[in-house]
Amino acid sequence: MQKKSSLISSVFHHLYLFPSKISKVYKEVYLLSRLRNNSTRFHKAAVAFMLSIVFLSMNAQAQKLINIETAHNAVVLQVNDSNYVGMIYFGPKLSNAMEYANIPAMYKRGDDYSGILNSAYTPAGSSNLVEPAIAVTHADGNTSLDLRYVSHTTKQQAPDIALTSIVLRDPVYAVEVTLYYKTYFKDDIIEQWCMIKQKEKSNIILHKFASANLYLTANSYWLKQYHGDWAKEMRPEEAQLTHGIKVLDTKLGTRADLYQPPSFMVSFDKAATEDEGKVMLGSLEWSGNFRIDLEVDPLNNLRLIAGINNFASDYSLKPSEEFVTPAFLYTFSDKGKGDASRKMQHWARENRIVNGTGSRLTLLNNWESTFFDFDETKLATLIKDAKKLDVDLFLLDDGWFGNQYPRNNDHAGLGDWQENRKKLPSGIGYLVKEAQQDGVKFGIWVEPEMVNPFSNLYHTHTDWVIKQPARPEHLYRNQLVLDLSNPKVQDFVFGVLDTLFTKNPNLAYIKWDCNAVIYNAYSAYLPKQSHLYIDYVRGLYKVLERVRAKYPKVPMMLCSGGGGRVDYGALKYFTEFWPSDNTDPLERIFIQWEYSYFYPAIASANHVTDWGKQPIKYRTDVAMMGKLGFDIVVSKLSETDLQFCQQAVATYKLFSDIVWHGNQYRLVSPWDNDIAAVMYVADDKSDAIVFNYLVNNRYGAGSLSPVRLKGLDASKKYSVKEINLYPGTKSTLDGTKEYSGDYLMTIGVNPDVNARRSSVILDVKEVK
Ligand code: DGJ
Repeated sequence: MQKKSSLISSVFHHLYLFPSKISKVYKEVYLLSRLRNNSTRFHKAAVAFMLSIVFLSMNAQAQKLINIETAHNAVVLQVNDSNYVGMIYFGPKLSNAMEYANIPAMYKRGDDYSGILNSAYTPAGSSNLVEPAIAVTHADGNTSLDLRYVSHTTKQQAPDIALTSIVLRDPVYAVEVTLYYKTYFKDDIIEQWCMIKQKEKSNIILHKFASANLYLTANSYWLKQYHGDWAKEMRPEEAQLTHGIKVLDTKLGTRADLYQPPSFMVSFDKAATEDEGKVMLGSLEWSGNFRIDLEVDPLNNLRLIAGINNFASDYSLKPSEEFVTPAFLYTFSDKGKGDASRKMQHWARENRIVNGTGSRLTLLNNWESTFFDFDETKLATLIKDAKKLDVDLFLLDDGWFGNQYPRNNDHAGLGDWQENRKKLPSGIGYLVKEAQQDGVKFGIWVEPEMVNPFSNLYHTHTDWVIKQPARPEHLYRNQLVLDLSNPKVQDFVFGVLDTLFTKNPNLAYIKWDCNAVIYNAYSAYLPKQSHLYIDYVRGLYKVLERVRAKYPKVPMMLCSGGGGRVDYGALKYFTEFWPSDNTDPLERIFIQWEYSYFYPAIASANHVTDWGKQPIKYRTDVAMMGKLGFDIVVSKLSETDLQFCQQAVATYKLFSDIVWHGNQYRLVSPWDNDIAAVMYVADDKSDAIVFNYLVNNRYGAGSLSPVRLKGLDASKKYSVKEINLYPGTKSTLDGTKEYSGDYLMTIGVNPDVNARRSSVILDVKEVK
């Protein structure tokens, strides 16, 4: 049956592709009719036959190509004669969609012995010879899987959003995989995931279960990946991929991207630059162990397989149960990394982060100024300092809880979320009121997934803690991780937040921290230990869903001992993330630069602290490239520093809308130059803010040439004024001059950055 239908579809396919073949068939039928000497009847029959072939072949062809298009790009899949779905194209879309079918024949790269190197979802154990996307053991112990096309549909979910689903089924075993491609048309974004289902007699085991399996074609592939550690987030490395498999992964459980985030880029043919070259940006939407395989195959194509890490994670799937993978998010541009990143930033603001099109609260945080050493009186003074700065909110950090095991350092108290009576005898409620009286909002830090062995929670619920029962505990920052696969733990974690909000309805902000990795992975709750890493993250998302269902609007910062958990799976529930505990502004220029390829400025919480040697203006200017906050001892600021900060908060309020919602252009890279320059342009191109910093302190370093601006309207006239000056200083730039957008984008403007003017912000405004 299988063979017959694929034979028929093959005939149609050839007839459709080659009209000359159609006329040849016609001729043969017609000749036959002549031979039979019944020309009119046979002529009519021949015409009817030919028309039906053309019609059917068009139909068959429509099924052959699955075209997933966005405004500029296309992912094209083809169902071949054996009903395998393969990816035949990814790149700029063609004006005639029928021409995609011609692509495979253009590549003469040698033999695909398996016939499925380009599989849209490569199964293990049958004809596959390379890294699989999925591997299973069936109920009867057999380990083979073969996935063939069954059907596909595309549904428009919103004017800009469509969902294509493709059903694949094993002809022998009752296993079905549905591939999903969700397109966000104008931003050229695709989210790709899948659902695995089975109807065998009993459970099957999933050994690998990728979200996406792409097949990319170029002459060479350049991977830009990131590594790091605490205070060293987002260090980039870019290199050409060689044949074989390069794996980006994490096995840390929580705080999963402490060493490596799930975001990366692949350039095609050569390493793309900001404004040139073909590049794909990818990121897995998952806050736990991930794995991204990049395999340059024997035919020199790139097989990209992204999903949850299958390390120690065999997943047992019951009959009729659905295993839904997280989405792999990607975009493509043939205009360089800058264009690709603007697509991703725009998508995130419009579709992913909470309140991405809204505004953010400026704040004063007390972590660096007090650490654990505070009491009610001190906090009341700090709240007044927040008012003095005129920021929107005071954020109380770690150290406010625990009584029997007070949280006076990081050795004790995590898990006991009651106000410490010694430090806060009048409770959080009193502080919220104090803040209200001073005209600022009040926010609070929590780390609800964690527990210190020195806590009541640990002693009353040892079974809630992830640890090997027969082995010594291995702590990270003196703490252990709670087992979020357990619904009771989920209730507890939700309860921490819910109680805070119930008792303090005016609580205006949450900083959600997560400081430990998972050692000694073992759950006292789960019957199958290999489910722990996955069910932990699912449990976390269940809690966050509940928090958001009840408190949809409250701003929340996603923090993980710095940027240990920055991904679009978690960011669905948060308004912003904490990029790094490293707030040295020089370091931050590099860290924020790299995050910005994937995340919009509105989501980047940047605080002015005492880290680094730069003056307060430099530190503040850097923090302004995102969501501005302070974490300094305001009372210790000199009078002019304080005056500067107050003015800076006021100035920030004037232009923050452009930083939060505008289009970002990375003008001068800190990696290769003495200065760095980053620009944000309002959608209507009437206003732009340009940040310029000295990043090299060698003799004479500075902006020796003009900085060429981008994203303006060439035909508009602009003034260029320096803003956010330190009190008592004057700009060296002539703010009265007018320039055309054309001039600013062709020649540029020199911000006059040097050792005396190490940080310069320019306001570029349309002159009407
Ligand atoms: C790690 C965070 O990154 C810091 O900002 C701070 O909140 C500490 N945790 C508190 O323990």
